[in-house]
Amino acid sequence: MTSAEIRQSFLDFFKSKQHAIVPSSSLMPTAPNLLFTNAGMNQFVPYFLGDQTAPWKRVADTQKCIRAGGKHNDLEDVGFDTYHHTMFEMLGNWSFGDYFKRESLTWGWELLTKVWGIPPKRLFATVYSPDKAKGDPSDFDQEAYDIWAKIFKDAGLDPAVHIVNGNKKDNFWMMGDTGPCGPCSEIHFNLLESDDEAAGRANVNSSSPRCIEIWNHVFIQFNANADGTFAPLAAKHVDTGMGFERVAGIHATTNGFRDFAAEPSNYNADVFKPTFDKLTELSGKIYTKSVPTKRDSLTAQEQIDIAFRVLADHARCVSCAIADGILPGNEGRNYVIRRILRRAIMYGQKNLGLKTGDFASLVAPVIESLGNVFPELKTQRVMVEKAIRAEEESFGSTLGRGLDLFWQGATLLERAEVDTGPSIQVGRTYVEIGEAIMRDGKLVRIISGEFAFLLSDTYGFPLDMTQVLAVERGIEVDAKGFERFMEEQRNRGRAARKTDVIVASTEGEAVAAATKFVGYQIDATHATHSKLVDVVKTEKDAYLVFDQTPFYAEMGGQVGDTGHALINGAKVDILDTIKDKSGRHLH
Ligand code: GLY
Repeated sequence: MTSAEIRQSFLDFFKSKQHAIVPSSSLMPTAPNLLFTNAGMNQFVPYFLGDQTAPWKRVADTQKCIRAGGKHNDLEDVGFDTYHHTMFEMLGNWSFGDYFKRESLTWGWELLTKVWGIPPKRLFATVYSPDKAKGDPSDFDQEAYDIWAKIFKDAGLDPAVHIVNGNKKDNFWMMGDTGPCGPCSEIHFNLLESDDEAAGRANVNSSSPRCIEIWNHVFIQFNANADGTFAPLAAKHVDTGMGFERVAGIHATTNGFRDFAAEPSNYNADVFKPTFDKLTELSGKIYTKSVPTKRDSLTAQEQIDIAFRVLADHARCVSCAIADGILPGNEGRNYVIRRILRRAIMYGQKNLGLKTGDFASLVAPVIESLGNVFPELKTQRVMVEKAIRAEEESFGSTLGRGLDLFWQGATLLERAEVDTGPSIQVGRTYVEIGEAIMRDGKLVRIISGEFAFLLSDTYGFPLDMTQVLAVERGIEVDAKGFERFMEEQRNRGRAARKTDVIVASTEGEAVAAATKFVGYQIDATHATHSKLVDVVKTEKDAYLVFDQTPFYAEMGGQVGDTGHALINGAKVDILDTIKDKSGRHLH
């Protein structure tokens, strides 16, 4: 099967079990406590809580999920292993007060072993066993245990070997700190070369790439309240999530679940192939599948292979996020997308020698592999490419200088004697790079919050990017110190805004008609005919106001659009777009 056939086979299986097949929801979550849509169940929360009645009893779909920032955050692992992603597809099936544990687990087993032919000996199931001493909620999931015991016995396997207990950390699933939740039962796939069952069992939940959780069956029974209590829900529901890229990668690596000699990798799945091919064309470098065993002292080829995985993953994530209207920006989810984008640009330039514009050219292969499943990628293509290209241009111009400064600083720090802290001259001031200290008998080098802040403020390096660079050289970063500098800057900004912005815009005059925003409806030229309705002059600037505009105005951390207007044949550059209280776009 190709990846597309695996996805379709999942959906067809649940269609045959009377499930309605529904589209993925947007990555922009509807739940207020989420940064991004992080699970297939997010769009169904009102049905679980009983706030709305579901139009169907059973549904299945493939859902775009981002797990970067927030409760579920895999960003730091992406690229360094072969099975974490920032964005992934979650195949899922749901019951809204209809079937429960028996059907869910039995159908799960049927699809995996009968339809897909996964050897039963290689599958292990976990069930919820609360650690009462730690205050875990609810009781041992005897019902799930008994269902699994029968399934394994019927397959001629020993339940005592194939069922593994897990406490709240592994077997009680929560979408966020609040919301619908419940005990869960995960299916793990032993990918060791031998199918020895004792070795397979020992590998469950060991973070080994040779034993991977592929499918989580959650039994939604509670709502987690903000005060930490769990309220039982009126009805019981099923919420399952299968890692599509994991299954597709294992299928590709094992010749259809038959040959377990090779190291498994999600990136062996054909969904990543068009992007890998494009990266080879752009960089002249070859992906060799190497996976580092540590984060520092990486070989040149390990650095290339990490970058291939990072870029292939991040290109999908930012393309899908931007297509769903989450543009790179300075706050909240928009800043997470900016961080991911900058992480990709940094790896592309540093490890693969890519140039400005190369990352935007990965949108085409992403659309080639995902455009038929998530059609918004095709309709929003121009906007996605434009937003990525703009970020490459602005960050690309400072990245090289920032990297030079980082390397100079790190080199001085590596040469520093114990209990000394070198400084570096930046303009007319000196910035403390960090210090070398002895900790538990070991020499430790730490980059100061001030230096990390300089890299962030002047060169646009998100903290986690500085951390990635530092770890490669075995150096730590004072993240708390960095936060202190950030907070000071925020305070300065707040104080300054009180005087500045009110002068520079027409804030407060909530009387004029709001500008009609047509940025999502226009053609590929991104141009529209508009009527100039006002010119707002401030001490420093002049702002043009039109009746309608395709220019996105700075808002919620997203940057305002730039471009130009042709007014009676004269070209006027638009350097920024902001919005006033009346909702007028000021160009
Ligand atoms: N909602 C099930 C999961 O994300 O694992």
